[in-house]
Amino acid sequence: MGGPNEIRAKFPSMEEGTKEDWDIIGSHYMPFASKVADRVLDHLRLLDGDYGGFPVDRLEHSLQTATRAHRDGRPDDYVVMALLHDIGDTLGTFNHPDVAAAILKPFVSEKLHWITEKHGIFQGYYFFHHLGQDRDMREQFRGHEHFEDCAEFCEKYDQAAFDASYESAPLEFFEPIVRKVMARPINSIYVNE
Ligand SMILES: [Fe+2]
Ligand SMILES: [Fe+2]
Repeated sequence: MGGPNEIRAKFPSMEEGTKEDWDIIGSHYMPFASKVADRVLDHLRLLDGDYGGFPVDRLEHSLQTATRAHRDGRPDDYVVMALLHDIGDTLGTFNHPDVAAAILKPFVSEKLHWITEKHGIFQGYYFFHHLGQDRDMREQFRGHEHFEDCAEFCEKYDQAAFDASYESAPLEFFEPIVRKVMARPINSIYVNE
């Protein structure tokens, strides 16, 4: 963003930065931050056509997970969590839940963040035993206050969202919901009241 003639900060190192420099940078921050939902949606589209051997591609799996949650009456923040839970498959191939958890963290409750971060282990209940792994890996969290919520997310929405005959809502349906939930961080070290 910004052309070669835009006004920029002048410091060669942050140590030499001035209030004037940071006023310039600050004036760019909110317009950039306001587009985070659009960047996230663009990244989600990278999952389109990526099957990885599954019955549906990763975008359809995401839409189906979110659609099932929405049709089950879940609130907007939960639906957005459901939509984005696997967005990290591209860059976080070996730890995809961490990527979605990091993206959602400023915008959702601690509970939804926990569900996102742990869903990979809980989802394993449905397939780890086919890969020679322990399907009960989630048991390490038994008794945690969000255990049942995470198990429920996987049971009702995530593990159920591979049905090629299911009529999911299109991404356009979820776009305004994502923009609304990501419009304002509820916790961020970069944004003051
Ligand atoms: Fe996942
Ligand atoms: Fe998933």
